Amino acid sequence: MASSSRSQFSSRFGFIMAAAGSAVGLGNVWGFPTQAASNGGAVFLIVYLCMVFLLAYPMLVAEMTIGRYGQSNAIRSFRAGWPKGQLGAILLGVVGLVVVSLILSFYAIVAGWLMGSFADSGMNLFGIHDHTHWLTTFSTSRNLILMVTFMLLTMYVVRNGVADGIEKWSTRLMPLLFILFFVLTAYIFTQDGAMEGLKMYLIPDLSHLTPELCVSAMGQAFFSLSLGVCVMTTYGSYLKKDANIPKTAAQVALIDTGVAFTAGLMVLPAMFVAKQNGVQIFSDTGALLNSDTLVFDVLPAMFNTMGIVGALVGAIFFLLMIIAALTSSISMLEVPVSCATEELKLSRNKAVLFIGGLITLVSAIVVVNFSDLFGLVVTFTTVYSQPIIALLITLIVGWIWNRNQILGELKQGCPDIEQGWFWKIWPWYVRVVCPILMLLVFFA
Ligand code: PHE
Repeated sequence: MASSSRSQFSSRFGFIMAAAGSAVGLGNVWGFPTQAASNGGAVFLIVYLCMVFLLAYPMLVAEMTIGRYGQSNAIRSFRAGWPKGQLGAILLGVVGLVVVSLILSFYAIVAGWLMGSFADSGMNLFGIHDHTHWLTTFSTSRNLILMVTFMLLTMYVVRNGVADGIEKWSTRLMPLLFILFFVLTAYIFTQDGAMEGLKMYLIPDLSHLTPELCVSAMGQAFFSLSLGVCVMTTYGSYLKKDANIPKTAAQVALIDTGVAFTAGLMVLPAMFVAKQNGVQIFSDTGALLNSDTLVFDVLPAMFNTMGIVGALVGAIFFLLMIIAALTSSISMLEVPVSCATEELKLSRNKAVLFIGGLITLVSAIVVVNFSDLFGLVVTFTTVYSQPIIALLITLIVGWIWNRNQILGELKQGCPDIEQGWFWKIWPWYVRVVCPILMLLVFFA
């Protein structure tokens, strides 16, 4: 099974930072606050928290366990515990890696915009206002150049491997992200109007509770925890055998949810601070204007009203988003790269170059046909593919793999697990409750 030279994360802290780095991304800082702001604030927050703990966390344990059991790339890990006729396992692995590559192809475009906004704020800080228009104005050339820059950055980190690339950069960047986040949220709270946003975020108005809201919250939870696309399976395969999976997964889920919650705490009040400063954020009917571009339009508009301090705050905010995006994009690229190095015996350098190049090409096609393809790729991957693959993974863990293999794997790293409640609940929960809950939400 595992080759002795296979890479591993060097420490548990390193693994948690890398897995949390994958989980914390644009989904937390852009997706979650935007969805919360357009879906009634507090109600979305509550449903989201339920989805994370009732569905996403047990799934995260399942994905990590499959990976650590297989000690290999996603395709081979799925096969490792598959009884007979492994075509299903291979198919699932291949679909997962195609979907994650497509996610990266749109993610890199958005991350490119962030780099543009960051450069713009940085130049404003130094009093340079000419020539910055290009950076923040939608155009094919800007989208292309910034996307390629971000892809090169991602490829650079992944090329250096698991411990020297992914782990090293995640352990550097994630703490920085937490600090920047804290400073920025504290700052927003000193501004007029922030309390109004806080109320919307924390006081529920149940009239917003609809089946669509539940579907959105479920999709958001899966996207945010990087589920259903083999990322956590691949990272799990680099986890040492003495790591306690349920506990590690809980820490990752808590960090991810904590960051999403804090992002809401920052962005919703910031919207109202912007409103106070004369930026229009709601239409006459009270609906959120430009929900998708909230962070790109509304927040910079707020920063602009704050002079030089605004430029600094803006630069910090976009730097934070870029860090979050990078620690996620490297986890996406690692999925196909690990398959290529192990299945096709390519060197890591070549695998990164070929696969990174291919994804950049796909991304370029999306950029050039932006209005036709961008929304389509986002919907196809995040709304349909991720929940469906996640559902298939629960079915594998619950019904296809031998139960003792999974439980045996869980026992490694936590020998006394049999005494705890997790042991009593999790196996049948993943087998029965998760698939039913997912189907219910999906068909609601
Ligand atoms: N979880 C990341 C985020 O919140 C996105 C992601 C999705 C990463 C799928 C890897 C795989 O932005």
